Amino acid sequence: MCGIIGYIGDRKACEVIVKGLKRLEYRGYDSVGVVTESNGKLYIKKGVGSVDEVVERLNLLDMPGKRGVGHTRWATHGVPNDINAHPQMDCTGKIALVHNGIIENFAELKEELVEKGHTFESDTDTEIIAHLIEEELKSSETFEDALRKALLRLKGSFALGVIYTEEPDRLYFVRNESPLVLGIGNGEMFGASDVPAFLEYTNRVVFLDDMEYAVVTKNSWVVKRLETGEEVRKEVKTVEWTLEMAEKAGFPHFMLKEIYEQPRVLRDAIHGNAKVIGDVAKEIAKYNKIFIVAMGTSYHAGLVGKYLFQRLAKKVPIVEDASEFRYEFENLIDEDSLVIAITQSGETADTLAAMKLAKRKGAKVLAIVNVVGSMATRIADLTLYTHAGPEIGVAATKTYTTQLAVLTMLAIELARTLGTADEEYLTKLEESLRGIPDIVEEVLNLNEPLRELAKGLKEKENFFYIGRGIGVPTALEGALKLKEISYIHAEGLSAGELKHGPLALIEEGVPVVAIAPSGKTFDKMLGNVEEAKARGAYIIALGSSERLRGVSDALIEIPEVDELLTPIPYIVPLQLLAYHLAVLRGNDPDKPRNLAKSVTVE
Ligand code: AGP
Repeated sequence: MCGIIGYIGDRKACEVIVKGLKRLEYRGYDSVGVVTESNGKLYIKKGVGSVDEVVERLNLLDMPGKRGVGHTRWATHGVPNDINAHPQMDCTGKIALVHNGIIENFAELKEELVEKGHTFESDTDTEIIAHLIEEELKSSETFEDALRKALLRLKGSFALGVIYTEEPDRLYFVRNESPLVLGIGNGEMFGASDVPAFLEYTNRVVFLDDMEYAVVTKNSWVVKRLETGEEVRKEVKTVEWTLEMAEKAGFPHFMLKEIYEQPRVLRDAIHGNAKVIGDVAKEIAKYNKIFIVAMGTSYHAGLVGKYLFQRLAKKVPIVEDASEFRYEFENLIDEDSLVIAITQSGETADTLAAMKLAKRKGAKVLAIVNVVGSMATRIADLTLYTHAGPEIGVAATKTYTTQLAVLTMLAIELARTLGTADEEYLTKLEESLRGIPDIVEEVLNLNEPLRELAKGLKEKENFFYIGRGIGVPTALEGALKLKEISYIHAEGLSAGELKHGPLALIEEGVPVVAIAPSGKTFDKMLGNVEEAKARGAYIIALGSSERLRGVSDALIEIPEVDELLTPIPYIVPLQLLAYHLAVLRGNDPDKPRNLAKSVTVE
């Protein structure tokens, strides 16, 4: 998983590319490289480290040329080192390229190319692409033909930016199962993994689909099919995100900024879907076999969706981790099935694979997505957007709560269509949902007390998060947030499970976070909290009942809301707690180790 950017125009290419790489760093940050071209000569600088480190160490801003491509890497084949960093080149040194994805048949291809006399420098799968193009060029009339022929031999995922010295006026960008978007400027063109990379210069974009490539010069662009070389008509879209929206807006980290954006984006999600949700609900109401597929945080949103659907619409969806779904449910999906895919990025490989399988089996596919134009939206029959804007922090925050808002709206409309719940209650629930952004604003006022609380917890190495009913996914998500950015081990589970094993791990001072809103299981939850407390646990309770005060060491008071809406305001303090613990432990919450924002490989 990596970020790529390319530029051609009249500016100093290295400057545009370095800025773009900075904005793509969330996609990978173990090594960085840039190639530019000037007077028929390629200039390459690359090395291990973050964008800032490599820019400084190798003086990346001092490279000649007005066209070039750059890369920020998250290693898949070959350890992070200077040689494995991209760009990678062919034997002649005339072809250089950057790659996001994985070439599955690279070992066979490499063997074949070695036999033909090619020499390789790196351990990457990427390098074989440059050599393969070089090889095809020997029997092709044009570079474009050679590129097509070479790429048709690849199995796997690839988004590419390609530069060839003998064609001084152009760059090539390619997409197959890894994102690639063109930026259309005036007298300049861009290609990148994501829009913020070039948003400073243009907001006019063209999204490439799988097996498409683009040939761009500074004044023109054309998109073609890889299989045939035939031109494809593409729509130029205008992206409404401002650059400021894609930057930190004064917060020390993107994650904190994104946590604070939640009231606004929740309003956007609710307003943005108000008109379309009814039609989608009518369309999906006829399906009895409902599957929800997603990964990570989006999977937790799916679990909340299950409670909402069963309580309101009397439909019981099967929620499955997308990486498992493909293997377990293949024979159960058919034309009577509805598959709801939840994915912030719309590019998660496991989720896309599950969606493609569902389509092959004739199922109806609904995607709940944040990134407009992403692959998931193109596979799905129906799409609902979360309208959360770009999320740069690797930890999902605002995209999670907006997913929850969309799922709540969908469950309400489904219940209305099916007549499975009292209309008066549904109207009241809708009104309460519209009030949730204000409640989240109130919860954000707890930031300072949560920071204080975190100070006393920063040395802890194990946390438990317990919930009941619709609070269980909140426990799972709270634990995931803590794990991924603070590197503290955390377990989320149903409170009832505690005494079936995990209670053995509770000893003096172990933090137990209890998601305890008022509702039918509140008394049971109090009992579970008492059990943990009796073993010495440090109880952090989230709820609105005064009765929690007596049993908790720290009480995080959340305004009373309908039980079905609790997942939104209850996750916010847990995001903040995880954030402060990460910062207090000296971690960068925006770039957790070993993780990347979109997992575009299976
Ligand atoms: C959570 O903080 C992570 N970013 C991760 O679990 C994420 O939710 C998962 O990789 C799925 O991503 P998606 O929503 O873009 O498909």
